[in-house]
Amino acid sequence: MIKIQEIKAEDLNPAEFIAQKTKEISALVGQGLAINALSGGVDSSVVTMLGHKALGSRLKTYFINNGLMRRGEPERIVSLFKELGVTVEIVDAQKEFFAALKGVTDPEEKREAITQTFYKSVFGKLVKQSGAKYLLQGTILTDVDETVAGIKRQHNVFEQLGIDPQEAFGYKIIEPLVQLRKDGVRKTGKGLRLPESLYNRMPFPGPALSARVIGEATPEKIETVRAATVILEEELAQTPAFQYMAILHQDRVTGIRGGKRDYGLQVEIRCWDSIDARNAKPTRLSYDTLDKLVKRMIGEVSGVVSVTYNITPKPPSTMEAV
Ligand code: XMP
Repeated sequence: MIKIQEIKAEDLNPAEFIAQKTKEISALVGQGLAINALSGGVDSSVVTMLGHKALGSRLKTYFINNGLMRRGEPERIVSLFKELGVTVEIVDAQKEFFAALKGVTDPEEKREAITQTFYKSVFGKLVKQSGAKYLLQGTILTDVDETVAGIKRQHNVFEQLGIDPQEAFGYKIIEPLVQLRKDGVRKTGKGLRLPESLYNRMPFPGPALSARVIGEATPEKIETVRAATVILEEELAQTPAFQYMAILHQDRVTGIRGGKRDYGLQVEIRCWDSIDARNAKPTRLSYDTLDKLVKRMIGEVSGVVSVTYNITPKPPSTMEAV
């Protein structure tokens, strides 16, 4: 296993880092083509801009709509990048992802199903069609650490696990951010002149909303958690928290609706203060904020009869529930 040399955010000189990585990417890809998938998160946005700087139109950027994104996300991100001069193509792969997730309840099996669908079925095909030999990817050091430690299998870590992507999927992976943690990636994004709404964006996991559904991620459950996420993001937009999330539980609980027993859904809210996601503490949200969140969740998200706020720190919790 290769030992990765960490660059701490305080030691990072963004201009130098950008110049060095741009040079490395150009040298590796040469006159060929590279491909990358933009999810709209901080890491993939920074990688897209780095790659664009290095390769221009020789980098083909796709937004894979896996059906697990937040509401309006594909269109919003594509239009944001268009304003930055980067063309991004949306690929509708919702059917493939939901087919792969069907009946899968175990967290790691869910990640594996998403990984396989992403790299083999959807991206593998795109790479073959495009003729690209290189895949640019926004893996960061925290992804590697947690995967190697066996805490969570991040969907974007291969070589560190001894899996050869060339052999498994037919292409080489370039990971220019792998020495950085989230704070270093944000600094790089600022250096690349990305809008603050992108480089300071809250992290969002690769498995997207399927990481926010405990048990099987069906289209219906994803829609429920998507609706809860809209409310959460509206209500908490002004908090300086590192990340917040709504989680749909698998177990139902007894509630009352219209004077009748309703065996309904439970949504759990988490909101984290953290610097680099390695440790995190729950944000001390005001009771008024929590109260408003609950009122909106039970009023606007169909079937929800219970809303809880988790106050367990990481560790022993992880930030995501799945
Ligand atoms: P955890 O849950 O491991 O999360 O404490 C730490 C940070 O990583 C994000 N996260 C993921 N990101 N694929 C990703 O790309 C994943 O499978 C995944 N799981 C967690 C999480 O949102 C948090 O910012």
